[in-house]
Amino acid sequence: MIIPRKPQTSAEVAEHYDELDPFYREIWGEHVHHGLWVTGRETPDQAVEALIAHLADGLALKPGQHVCDIGCGYGATAEWLAENHGVHVTGITLSSAQLRQAQHRATGSSLLHFMEQDWLANTFEDGVFDHMIAIESSEHMSDKQRFFNEAYRTLRPGGRLAVYAWLARDDTRSWEERLLLEPICREGRLPGMGTEPEYREWAERAGFTVDGFEDLSAKVKRTWSLCARRVAKKIVTHSHYRRYLLDARSRNRIFALSLPRIWLAYTIGSMRYGFLTAHKPSSSS
Ligand SMILES: C[S@@+](CC[C@H](N)C(=O)[O-])C[C@H]1O[C@@H](n2cnc3c(N)ncnc32)[C@H](O)[C@@H]1O
Repeated sequence: MIIPRKPQTSAEVAEHYDELDPFYREIWGEHVHHGLWVTGRETPDQAVEALIAHLADGLALKPGQHVCDIGCGYGATAEWLAENHGVHVTGITLSSAQLRQAQHRATGSSLLHFMEQDWLANTFEDGVFDHMIAIESSEHMSDKQRFFNEAYRTLRPGGRLAVYAWLARDDTRSWEERLLLEPICREGRLPGMGTEPEYREWAERAGFTVDGFEDLSAKVKRTWSLCARRVAKKIVTHSHYRRYLLDARSRNRIFALSLPRIWLAYTIGSMRYGFLTAHKPSSSS
């Protein structure tokens, strides 16, 4: 696992999303995750929805079931799942700014419920969820084994887990770690970036049976050239971007440096984007 030279806490992750909230909403929109270009002809909006649809395919959702969205961002994935599959979704986030948007989205819905909680100290009862999803949130957690242990504990037997995660390739070289992966972790508030074998091992050690792993790096990479273009355009046209970047009090402005680093890390294969699916065995299996 790649560990940043300065440890990153849950409080700092929350601060990252609170402070960057307006920028995330303007640059990324309501989905704070990669897009998935399957044909290559998708618009950016279609690509972000394609990523969720791909995850839903891996879960076999039934109307009325209860899904937990660990690290729900602005709640847009939860809303998509509720609208397209008729499932109840409980989403949790560390960020109060994200929670406000998500709660606004849930107004009048009997299917959506959002809370501010740290997954690593969650208050859910054992076996309450039918399915569990984590889209690009596990990398923000300092204890990945606990991330999987808690997913296992709160899933019912037979329940499924689907995780999208930023990964480091196996056997990274020291220059890749020094110039790309360690700074990406530090600048993006990731206490650790795991590898595919590590994710499999954490899941299995928690008790899960791993059903599949897909490397989607080539299909999501376009996200970063898109983001870099959007940010560059905003810097030129919007003075509050320039003010934020030039203000020494902006604790998370350093994340801007990660955009070209992440693009390069995908391009040369130092970083991978993984999709892991697993289930909690039922007592009879
Ligand atoms: C990259 S955003 C992804 C948001 C959302 N899944 C999406 O795809 O739009 C990461 C999310 O993980 C959440 N997160 C990170 N660590 C967490 C933790 N320990 N407990 C709960 N949420 C966490 C953040 O608050 C944020 O909502």
